[in-house]
Amino acid sequence: MQRGRNYVGLCPFHKEKTPSFNVSEERNLFKCFGCGRSGDSIAFIQEHLHLDFVEAVRHIATSLGISIPENVSAEEVANAGKREAVLKVLAEAVEFYHGVLYSSDGAPAQNFYKIRNLLPETIEQFSLGASPAAWDIATTYMQQHGFTVDLLVEAGISVQNEDGRVYDRFRGRAMFPIRDHLGRAVGFSGRTLSADPTTAKYINSPQSIVFDKGRILYGLDKARKPIAERGMALLVEGQVDVIAMHQAGFTHCVATSGTAVTPDHVRMIKKYAGTMVLVYDADDAGRKAMQRAIGLALPEGMHVRCATLPTGADPDSFLREHGNKKMEDLIDNAPSWMHYLVEFYASNTVSDNPVQQGRVLRSLLTLIRSIPDALQHPFHVRELAGLFHLPEETLLAELAGTKQPEKPMQQPQTARTPRSPVPTAGKPQPPEILPAERALLTAALTIENGLTDLLNAFNCTDETFISPMAQAVYRRIVVCSDDYPDFRQHLRESAITNSAEDKIIQSILSATGEPSSKWSSFDVDIPEKETARFLRDAIGTMQVYKIDAEIRALKEQTTVAQTESDRKVILHSISKLLQQRFEIITAIQNNTGSALWPDADSASVS
Ligand code: GTP
Ligand code: MN
Repeated sequence: MQRGRNYVGLCPFHKEKTPSFNVSEERNLFKCFGCGRSGDSIAFIQEHLHLDFVEAVRHIATSLGISIPENVSAEEVANAGKREAVLKVLAEAVEFYHGVLYSSDGAPAQNFYKIRNLLPETIEQFSLGASPAAWDIATTYMQQHGFTVDLLVEAGISVQNEDGRVYDRFRGRAMFPIRDHLGRAVGFSGRTLSADPTTAKYINSPQSIVFDKGRILYGLDKARKPIAERGMALLVEGQVDVIAMHQAGFTHCVATSGTAVTPDHVRMIKKYAGTMVLVYDADDAGRKAMQRAIGLALPEGMHVRCATLPTGADPDSFLREHGNKKMEDLIDNAPSWMHYLVEFYASNTVSDNPVQQGRVLRSLLTLIRSIPDALQHPFHVRELAGLFHLPEETLLAELAGTKQPEKPMQQPQTARTPRSPVPTAGKPQPPEILPAERALLTAALTIENGLTDLLNAFNCTDETFISPMAQAVYRRIVVCSDDYPDFRQHLRESAITNSAEDKIIQSILSATGEPSSKWSSFDVDIPEKETARFLRDAIGTMQVYKIDAEIRALKEQTTVAQTESDRKVILHSISKLLQQRFEIITAIQNNTGSALWPDADSASVS
């Protein structure tokens, strides 16, 4: 029976004649004013069917037609839940520091942004903020918002010293949220605002479950579309530089976050564009960084050009001093990596000494050889020959004759930190990927435009997947699609390596009519709308898995929550998640869109 916004009925937990059992659909809560039992929908099922929490969640899931995966390890599920929880902390912290900027505590940071000519809309666009100078304002605020100390430490917002005292990591600093390529805050960089030379100029969030410095490019969330459109990325050294560049209209600009460039950084850029322009300082450090980046980028098949700023300048100061037009000229006229290196050597070490010149030539030939596409080698050799006024044949002979470098050619995938669990000998292994993951991978491999749609319309990345193996397979497919326009054909026809990823790819490609219950075969023409729906459903199913993991992680927190209000906040989060979960499942069942992922009709599926 409906009464106002609630439903009222006889309580299932005690005998009664007049109804005192209230259910609020809106708040996902029940309360009986007779016996006093109350809780959310999970608690209801727990009480009613005498199940423990996990069993109750499983029961609800089953009744809604969704199976919770059994075949992902407990650790993976826990990690997926923890990742979501840490991301929530960071999202809240972005709001907090941004709010501080407009309070009296924000004055020093406001002043810094003003000196740097950053406009209010730029400050908004990058969610810039300020951290209070006191010891624990951020920590206290975050705790009041229901986050446990452990979680705050995990997220890098708070630091706990040996005595157990908890304080803010960032104090009295200009705060730069660091976002991943999808715009989710994964950490912060805090710039000092004091003149004290003993404090670090920048403090960054520590490496965490969501923040891997070697795999984050500052500004990529905003730059990746412009990079893809221009086929070129600008790489600078500092966050302030990225912001100043974007403000000046150079929206295809990114930076590493407090680390040197890694091969992963290069691969991330390469997913969107084949050329990068390094915009570095002319000083010694800038030159070393330039050389390092060239050495990393060429083996990834990336073309590199080098824009050199005057000594002592960085892009931010250069823009303020010389303006946008000069910056544009600098970028447009940036010489190729080879021109840059030859010019550099010519102006420094080389002189007329043949011994030195031979050494330089050999190191340049080694760089040329590191370019994976051998068809490009003769063109680089021609450029090099021209620069040294030498016959091309001499260099080509040298290139062909010199031994391959000692160290093996770059093997991108194996160099990465292994994320997959070490297989235990003897024990039977659970299936490595989930059915929904397999469905998505199948779509990427067999549906025309399947991968393009996943990448562009659904922002599907390796992190959309849950199991490390599916993530690795997806990365392999994306990288292969970068290198070969007809990557499906390539994967089908080429002798494939014996890696676990490729075995899964092979098994998908050789299974005909696999795996969807909805489509009898992927080789038939599926209407675009149906493809979109299929992709959306599989992604939705995976979101449900993640929500379930998160719910379990939150449930664990309730057992250790200190206060009643902590518990309430956590329960509130759980019921919100249940709501989301319900929406996703309803959307899948009704084939309608949901705010949580792109609508099949509005997503630009091409
Ligand atoms: P100014 O223009 O000299 O005021 O400095 P800036 O804020 O532009 O930074 P700077 O050019 O000195 O440094 C460029 C980038 O190097 C920064 O954005 C950081 O990513 C990194 N960096 C500089 N100093 C530090 C430091 O002390 N620690 C860490 N981890 N990174 C730093
Ligand atoms: Mn600077």
